[in-house]
Amino acid sequence: LDTTVLLLDLEKAYDKPDGVQRGLIAEIISRFEKKGFYLRGMKLMDVKKALGEQHYAEHEGKPFFPGLVKYICSGPVVAMVWEGPNVVASGRQMIGATKPHESAAGTIRGDYALTVGRNLIHGSDAVESAKKEIALWFPEGLSQWKSCQHPWIY
Ligand code: TYD
Ligand code: MG
Repeated sequence: LDTTVLLLDLEKAYDKPDGVQRGLIAEIISRFEKKGFYLRGMKLMDVKKALGEQHYAEHEGKPFFPGLVKYICSGPVVAMVWEGPNVVASGRQMIGATKPHESAAGTIRGDYALTVGRNLIHGSDAVESAKKEIALWFPEGLSQWKSCQHPWIY
């Protein structure tokens, strides 16, 4: 089973309503829950600059990097780890394309976001990135909970 890190941004944006203000936490979590993935970690946290910079290290040097780090650090985020078959690929599909005007209707960004700088949610782009991101966001470790259902029920 793969795992993925999802960061649900809860910032109160200046230019459009977002996150907590729009009450989207439960809506977004419920999509992953209903799909059948296993929740392995979840917490509300304020993000320090160093963590924001490390999380987005691959984008360092790009013109949008400073704004991106400022954004991720500007309010509390909900960090979650979801586990399940092909969760990275499925999760990215459920999240939708990076630019909200290109993300399909029915995806999280397609349904709820308007601009690339406020696209609501991060999802790991590969199992390897998820491993790094889990270590970064959940140094305390994850829940060891396993479903008591038959393994074929997701
Ligand atoms: P990226 O990893 O390319 O997208 P994704 O979140 O879909 O994996 O980029 C990280 C974030 O950087 C993206 O969610 C929003 C922001 N960003 C911009 O603000 N402008 C841009 O042109 C791009 C490509 C990304
Ligand atoms: Mg990315």
